[in-house]
Amino acid sequence: MNLKDLYIDFFVSKGHKQIPSAPVVPENDPSVLFNTAGMQPLIPYLTGKPHPFGTRLVDYQKCIRTNDLDVIGDTYHHTFFEMLGNWSLGDYFKKEAITWSFEFLTKVLNIPVERLGVTIFAGNDYLDKDMESKELWRILGIQEGHIAETEKDNFWIAGETGPCGTDTEMFYFRSDDEIPSIFDPEDERWVEIWNDVFMQYFKHEDGTLSPLPKKNVDTGMGLERVIAVLEGVNDNYKSSVWKDVIKTIEEVSGKPYDGNEKSMRIIADHIRTAVFISSDPTGIKPSNTDQGYILRRLIRRAIRHARKLEIDINSNWEEMIATSIMDNYSKYYSEIKENRLVVLEVLKNEKIKFNRTLDKGMKEFEKIINNIENNKINKDLAFKLYDTYGFPIELTLELANEKGLDVDIEGFKEKFKKHQELSRTASQGKFKGGLASSGEVETKYHTATHLLNAALKEVVGTFVHQKGSNITSERMRFDFSCDHKLTDEEKTKVEELVNNWIKDSLDVKVTEMKKQDAIDSGAECMFIEKYPDIVTVYSIGDVSKELCGGPHVKNTSEIGKFKIIKEEASSAGVRRIKAVIE
Ligand code: ALA
Repeated sequence: MNLKDLYIDFFVSKGHKQIPSAPVVPENDPSVLFNTAGMQPLIPYLTGKPHPFGTRLVDYQKCIRTNDLDVIGDTYHHTFFEMLGNWSLGDYFKKEAITWSFEFLTKVLNIPVERLGVTIFAGNDYLDKDMESKELWRILGIQEGHIAETEKDNFWIAGETGPCGTDTEMFYFRSDDEIPSIFDPEDERWVEIWNDVFMQYFKHEDGTLSPLPKKNVDTGMGLERVIAVLEGVNDNYKSSVWKDVIKTIEEVSGKPYDGNEKSMRIIADHIRTAVFISSDPTGIKPSNTDQGYILRRLIRRAIRHARKLEIDINSNWEEMIATSIMDNYSKYYSEIKENRLVVLEVLKNEKIKFNRTLDKGMKEFEKIINNIENNKINKDLAFKLYDTYGFPIELTLELANEKGLDVDIEGFKEKFKKHQELSRTASQGKFKGGLASSGEVETKYHTATHLLNAALKEVVGTFVHQKGSNITSERMRFDFSCDHKLTDEEKTKVEELVNNWIKDSLDVKVTEMKKQDAIDSGAECMFIEKYPDIVTVYSIGDVSKELCGGPHVKNTSEIGKFKIIKEEASSAGVRRIKAVIE
């Protein structure tokens, strides 16, 4: 039995309902690139909306944190990780949460109580000390000296504003040394394994707290860390989570892990994260902005470390590594099973693309360092390596550090930001159309997605909103929010409506207007924050009006016959239609 199953089963036995992991790219929150905690997809429910599964939930959630990519390579940082969590939405509170945490740790995982230490909120000017939690832990059997109090580390919030509250964190003593009688959370022999947050406030932009409508519990346990602890290894990559992938890297490189740890850890970590991003239902592909750029950087850094290990880059090494990762996760994530080929294609295409410029870029790098002044690569050269040779900044930094040189990172970031703003505006339409290229056929499909969106609203309900789309010259894919499988009747009606609008030869008109005016006029749009202040709005007759970067046909009669091929679930509450035009 593995940890995920043990955790889910335990909380199901305590009346929780299991909910599926949400996509790793947040569906309704463009302010963050990825979910960084299990609670993030649950924010609407922690702030009062009733959850369709009830008031006690449990899951394992895909999370990604990429703020410090350059630390990857040590024994315990990972860009992707799985977070186990259980929630009470206005149901139980401290007593049950703490009692069940204790029971799970000591009875299910069989951790000896003397190896546990806990922290509780010490109190500050506004909030009292959490005496209730302290007393609960004491009664359960945690010795007095193993209960530490802190103010700063025992208040939890994701980001700056939102649901939040005091918490109690659980630590495990991971050392052969004698267990100290006083637990010190700063002592690195103690590893944090679980956090119970008592979410009862909402933090506003001005820093004030107001009470939430209900008191909630939000917990989070980092899976890879707990498994490493339970298996008694001091290097996470030596735990069962990573065993198969490290073995595969040893095989494809013909080198042992010992002595090559850093490169192998980076390859294992980055390819695993790339697998999870590119298999996510949101359909992210490598690009130069946002999530797509993170994906690109991860793959490119993995390629560079594969070269360091003298792996034959033109062999199918990336396929073998990704396959061993996918084999391990398919059972738990259906999207990995379904998107195996997509993942392999993403990795291979990016490898081919990067290989084209990597050698030339390495030569340029050598040239740069031979003519360097002040032991520092200046911002223009760092940008040239990025822009012309596709070197992500951490790659340049890593290469420079290996030669004992520095890079003007701040200068690069400034230049990079300006450049990204330009490419973002240029690709303004990408969220609407997912248009990789926009030939004549893709343009027809693009207009068809607007008609489909409008038809779904009319037939299924105004609650339908576009969640994503992807267009090739062969077909279109359209994801939308909807709580049920479409009936045959609904599908037929939608198809008929779209075809009638095509027959009606409706003109497609484009206007520029202020973003706010567009919204006020009722235009549809996804990710409003991503659009500039002046936006283009496409209207089709009087049936559809959407913020969009285009391009579109001039008249719907150009589209041809529209046909739905498939309607299926995409993720929780999101359906997917595949359609063609003939
Ligand atoms: N949301 C809490 C955390 O991520 C449980 O630590």
